[in-house]
Amino acid sequence: MAVLTFANTKGGAGKTTAVVIVACELARMGFSVTVLDADPQLWISKWHERLGDRAPASLSVVPYVTSANLGQHARKLRDKVDFLLIDLPGARSPLLAQALGHSNYVLIPVQGSAMDAEGATNVIELLQYLEDRADIRIPHSVVLTRVNPMVTTRALQSVKELLSSRRVHVLSTPIIERAAYREVFGYGQTLYSITSESVSNLDKAQQNAQTLAQEVLRRILPYSSRGDRTKSETLKLSA
Ligand SMILES: Nc1ncnc2c1ncn2[C@@H]1O[C@H](COP(=O)(O)OP(=O)(O)OP(=O)(O)O)[C@@H](O)[C@H]1O
Ligand SMILES: [Mg+2]
Repeated sequence: MAVLTFANTKGGAGKTTAVVIVACELARMGFSVTVLDADPQLWISKWHERLGDRAPASLSVVPYVTSANLGQHARKLRDKVDFLLIDLPGARSPLLAQALGHSNYVLIPVQGSAMDAEGATNVIELLQYLEDRADIRIPHSVVLTRVNPMVTTRALQSVKELLSSRRVHVLSTPIIERAAYREVFGYGQTLYSITSESVSNLDKAQQNAQTLAQEVLRRILPYSSRGDRTKSETLKLSA
């Protein structure tokens, strides 16, 4: 199994949306997925509760995850599910270092803005500190979020240049700005329970989510700790 943390100390970077997208797609692929909801605002827990029986059967959510119980949950679940995803609160929090310490892989959502890039830098510096001081090397990638499908803004271009100058790996699939991602949250839906009449470009959002999840899967599989982590279809997907 693999523990995957979504982190950026800048609020509103798109962490929770990215967690929901990746969690749903991995569950649709047939993996068992648990989200540890460490945001006291409980967005994912509330969304999952509203989903009810529309939720993918192999997706579960643990609410009220705090620094006092994160380690306990991670240890208990790490060999029970295929993927454990951690959604962190927006601001800097003691939970961040703790969650990183439990992670096999870290995804850093970044919008095309200087402030988001700064929040990403905080996470990357903390990862570097863990490597230098504790010899813990946690692989990580930035995922660009809320990307305009039509144009590359100057702000996004400068964020890309900054990340490249720091040799930070960036996923080749960005999360596109789509109304469907907002609606899924707002109405307690998934990209597959919502109807295409109620939101524009649903098919494009679904395609984007699938491509992203497949890329995430390819990245994290080598760091997954469970011997039987990959059923044959997993290998096919990651090829
Ligand atoms: N790809 C996207 N397309 C459209 N809207 C998006 C997208 N990603 C995020 N949003 C919207 O941006 C806002 C912030 O996103 P989100 O809650 O995922 O960020 P966050 O990093 O989890 O925030 P916080 O730090 O407060 O936890 C939300 O209103 C969400 O619906
Ligand atoms: Mg959030």
